[in-house]
Amino acid sequence: MPPAQSRKALVCLIEPDEKFRLEIVRALTSFYRIQTFAESEAATVWLREAAPALVILDENAPPHGGAKTLASFRHLLSMAKVPILCVSDRINSEFLVQAEARGMGALAKPVRRSVLIKTISGLINRKIEAAWEAIEPVQQAALKQTVSLFNDIADLVETGAPVPYPQVRACCQPLAQAVENAQFKDILRGVKGHDNYSYVHSLRVAVFLAHFGATLGMRGEELLTLASGGLLHDIGKMAIPFEVLNKPGILTPEEFALVKTHVQKAVDMLSQTEGISKSAIIVARQHHEKLDGSGYPQGLKNGQLNELARMASIVDIFGALTDRRPYKDPIPPEDALAMMAAMKREIDQNLLGMFRGALLDAARDPSTA
Ligand SMILES: [Fe+2]
Ligand SMILES: [Fe+2]
Repeated sequence: MPPAQSRKALVCLIEPDEKFRLEIVRALTSFYRIQTFAESEAATVWLREAAPALVILDENAPPHGGAKTLASFRHLLSMAKVPILCVSDRINSEFLVQAEARGMGALAKPVRRSVLIKTISGLINRKIEAAWEAIEPVQQAALKQTVSLFNDIADLVETGAPVPYPQVRACCQPLAQAVENAQFKDILRGVKGHDNYSYVHSLRVAVFLAHFGATLGMRGEELLTLASGGLLHDIGKMAIPFEVLNKPGILTPEEFALVKTHVQKAVDMLSQTEGISKSAIIVARQHHEKLDGSGYPQGLKNGQLNELARMASIVDIFGALTDRRPYKDPIPPEDALAMMAAMKREIDQNLLGMFRGALLDAARDPSTA
């Protein structure tokens, strides 16, 4: 297994201001590996060989400044497809205006950490999202619409505005359709390497939950409910600090208590969403409950957990184990299922057997290849 560091994307930072350099390193370190340079000549030599996922370039980078450094990057073959984020002390600097006009990222200092991470993630994901153009139309629409919904929700959460159900419904429609037609593998392949981990997890839960439902005979509206419930089940996490959510290693009791609040936060947000089905809210409310009462937030037991919640809990655990994170590799599906089969008191083993069957069917069915 590779060391934890190598699982993170590599970012090159060319920044003369030591204070800002340290700030950026501190802000990014749980998500990315960072190679820093105080000036651009050493950086250019390094960039001839290295393949970073992104370069951050300051307008004042010595010895020639950001604009000339950008021009010199044009002669570097290795930089042809590397996204660049330009930063400047001045909000209306020509450097930033030009960067934006040429499709690069542009940010004026001081930069809020959440804005910085969102911008970097957006630039890195552009390449992955561009590859979606080659996928079948329904699966392509499922990816494009869910990622744009997810980005919109992140903004809504910041302002406290409710998530509009008509938009959720419209965005989940292609996903539900792809699952109903047993053609969802490109959706799962399409998010590999995407670095918005919450989006990837939520999308995978939506696909697996809807597919699980489809193999139990659910169709149409029911699948749409499962897809939207899956996609939105963790939206409460958007209100939890990044560093806690992506902390490598064990959380402190206080941090774990904070993470647990994402369930009630999601329920509060979804309760404001007019028109959303109660089942979608149940998925959010009960996806961390366990049969033996050891789950959270309510510690529900056996009969108190309805079938939908049991399904959601299975899919959520499977999704979390098989997800890639900055601090862990994905566990192979077979190993994840074996680990879950050992959780006899917590997980409905009858349903787990059906979920396993659903995954095996999908793996075998040539129409889903
Ligand atoms: Fe969760
Ligand atoms: Fe989850």
